[in-house]
Amino acid sequence: MTRLTEVRNTLRFILNDEDIALTDVPATQTLLDFLRLEKRLRGSKEGCAEGDCGACTVLVGRPRGGELIYEGVTACITFIGSLDAAHVVTIEHLSAPNGPLHPVQQAMLDFHGSQCGFCTPGIVMSLYGLWMREPYPATTEIERALQGNLCRCTGYSPIVRAAKAISTYGEAKKDPLVAHRAAIKARVTALRDGKRVEVGEGRDRLIVPGNVDDLAEIYAAEPGATLVSGATDVGLWVTKFMRDIGPMIFVGELPGLHHIEAFGGALKLGAAVTYAEAASVITQHFPQLNELWYRIGGDQVRNMGTVGGNIANGSPIGDTPPALIVLGAHITLRQGNERRDVKLKDFFIAYGKQDRRPGEFIESVTIPLLPAGEHFACYKLTKRRDEDISALCGAFRVFINEDGKVGMARIAFGGMAATPRRAISVEEALVGKPWNAATIEAAVAAFPVDFQPISDMRASAEYRMLAARNLLRRFHLETTGSEARLVREVA
Ligand code: FES
Ligand code: FES
Repeated sequence: MTRLTEVRNTLRFILNDEDIALTDVPATQTLLDFLRLEKRLRGSKEGCAEGDCGACTVLVGRPRGGELIYEGVTACITFIGSLDAAHVVTIEHLSAPNGPLHPVQQAMLDFHGSQCGFCTPGIVMSLYGLWMREPYPATTEIERALQGNLCRCTGYSPIVRAAKAISTYGEAKKDPLVAHRAAIKARVTALRDGKRVEVGEGRDRLIVPGNVDDLAEIYAAEPGATLVSGATDVGLWVTKFMRDIGPMIFVGELPGLHHIEAFGGALKLGAAVTYAEAASVITQHFPQLNELWYRIGGDQVRNMGTVGGNIANGSPIGDTPPALIVLGAHITLRQGNERRDVKLKDFFIAYGKQDRRPGEFIESVTIPLLPAGEHFACYKLTKRRDEDISALCGAFRVFINEDGKVGMARIAFGGMAATPRRAISVEEALVGKPWNAATIEAAVAAFPVDFQPISDMRASAEYRMLAARNLLRRFHLETTGSEARLVREVA
């Protein structure tokens, strides 16, 4: 195949005010190691090295829909290769040594938002990102912005009070990142030349395709490479499991994988659309997914993680597959110039095995909109409310005929088997039967036919089976308005 895309052997981005150009950097280099070890910027801390605690939070600015948008990311699992043509802002950018504190820092100080201080740089950066887009945030917005920042000693009340007071210390519109946004955007945009970036040799190689066609060409020629999008899972393969996963192809910023279209009764998302980018359109079309969506990781994970990555990863406890399966979603896979559509329910074959051929990647995800009159819900059960991985996640969808009988039922679970999977026997026990408690009780008896869950650190097999059955009972009660009656009876 003839290479059509020009190659650049330098990775380029802006770090605070400094232009960075790297010609020799391993693909597995994380941003946090680069900051702390190479640049000696030690303000960003390493707490967990797996994207959970938020101590390493920095802001990354990238053009999104014509604007330069700054989003919080966890530097510990952000690979340097994902930063080509981005602006990275660390805590050191907020105030010079011995200079006056930034309004966010001053508010945190005055409202006693810090004790040991280990989490504080990450919390300041999360609040800084929030303040720039919303100078007077509501408590819920602050809590959401801090979902991905763990503080073990201060407690969150002083931090929330500080967050509310930031605008009394300065005006967001006068902040350098806001006031000079156009100039910074011009600098970032100038770095986007559409060339393929290739740095390093052999398995250490880092590749950023110039566009989606270029990705198809590279991956077809090198199917053993690891595709990296948001790295919210792949990052841990490196930081926790020390896996050698090079060469790595960074696909997260390819414009051709970032489209969001609503057409013909369906929603189509490019595979690299992040949870944050998709949030408003998903919750507009599927308000039933609002709670689930904002319980995917924390703010940083939603800024980094992608819908396509969540599917391609094939995890049995991925957040989106159960809901997307019951909605009848399909994915478009591409290998070279060939494309094929696969229903999501058929994509997950066995643990760690998906219906994806060598050199084939997910290009888009298409989700049919819900016809009027159907009931749909999704429930995620975790040990802690925010930023946790499912013990199990169940999605339910039924259509009830005018005669009160179940015309259609789709049920899928994550966390109940080695893959996200439909509850076919339970569905069969519902269809054609009256949508009432007796039918539900008969149907829950079919769960062991569909699932034999395991016990692990997230839940026991017994808990999972009981919870799955109770979620079906809950869904029925919610659809029939029996919930209030049930609460009264119990009381
Ligand atoms: Fe904990 Fe990065 S060190 S999220
Ligand atoms: Fe100690 Fe937050 S101040 S962890």
